Amino acid sequence: MTDKTTTAKAHTNIALIKYWGKKDKTLNLPTTSSLSLTLNEFYTETMVTAGKEDTLLINNMMQDPTRVHNFLDFLREEIEDFGPLTIVSKNTVPTAAGLASSASSFAALTAAVARHQNWDLSLTDLSRLARRGSGSATRSFFPGFAVWHEGTDDQSSFAEALPATDLPIALVVCEIAGTAKKVSSSDGMLRAMTSPKYSEWVEQSHDQFTAMQEAIADQDLQKIGELAEENALAMHELNITATDRRFTYFNQMTLDILAFVKELRTEGFLAYATIDAGPNVKIITSQDQAETIKNKLQEKFRKLRLQIATPGPGISFED
Ligand code: ADP
Ligand code: DP6
Ligand code: CO
Repeated sequence: MTDKTTTAKAHTNIALIKYWGKKDKTLNLPTTSSLSLTLNEFYTETMVTAGKEDTLLINNMMQDPTRVHNFLDFLREEIEDFGPLTIVSKNTVPTAAGLASSASSFAALTAAVARHQNWDLSLTDLSRLARRGSGSATRSFFPGFAVWHEGTDDQSSFAEALPATDLPIALVVCEIAGTAKKVSSSDGMLRAMTSPKYSEWVEQSHDQFTAMQEAIADQDLQKIGELAEENALAMHELNITATDRRFTYFNQMTLDILAFVKELRTEGFLAYATIDAGPNVKIITSQDQAETIKNKLQEKFRKLRLQIATPGPGISFED
């Protein structure tokens, strides 16, 4: 018995080309490759230590550990058996609100357990393992822009960093709701797959994935924004056209902010929206326009919580 503790920190990532569907639920293989930006301002820090049973504390509150326990059991089978763990985690991002808490938290947990158990694993191995906890977590090991290759099997589905760029991109994060969503990402995407538009979306997403990589290589922020907004809105169209219990993550505020983003563009600002599995809007802009856009939003929507996010680092450990 040891009371050694191990802590890992992973930043969240926001997909500019979204993952929204599974071609293999057991392996958690996505239907499309996706591309994201890791954020500096939002992260999860997770500490693991040996305990009596698998338990999970997030921001000092006990949580139902089922999802985490199932993931730990997968690691016990896949890599090497280990005893029960006490997991103490801190989210600087709202939990389950569409700001990618599952991405940063499963990346941090995978890294913390691997280090705790002295497993000698590459970042690719960690990315592949974290995929089984939450798909978006594959991308949270890497700084800046990351791509998750959809792959065809367990080995070939993992993420990697795109070559570093000095692209001065920023996101203005509009936190409309910090409370947990009713439809989890995992359920939402399965329902979206029943939309008659789904196969068309997959095809379109493949083209956008290639175009996005080109836009990043060209440092073309406007093109990045255009592609990201198009991709995100198409994803949400799948939700409202799903044959199995159609739904939406949008609320009135989401729509109002989307309209405001359009207005900003007519005023000459570089501003495009992306939205994940929740009502919150992230506005893609440049670092020099972010502050002005934030102020304009605050003036228009007095109670809205706003934060500027910039490209963030990959996984790290505390020793
Ligand atoms: P999000 O949009 O926040 O990623 P998801 O529905 O994808 O929402 O995932 C939310 C789930 O992720 C939570 O219900 C919980 O199971 C898990 N989760 C979030 N934060 C943590 C954490 N710090 N440690 C462990 N699991 C977490
Ligand atoms: C809209 O990674 O949370 O944020 O693999 O079922 O845990 P699971 O889903 P999750 O889905 C993220 C969906 C998204 C888009 C994205 O991050 O690519
Ligand atoms: Co998630």
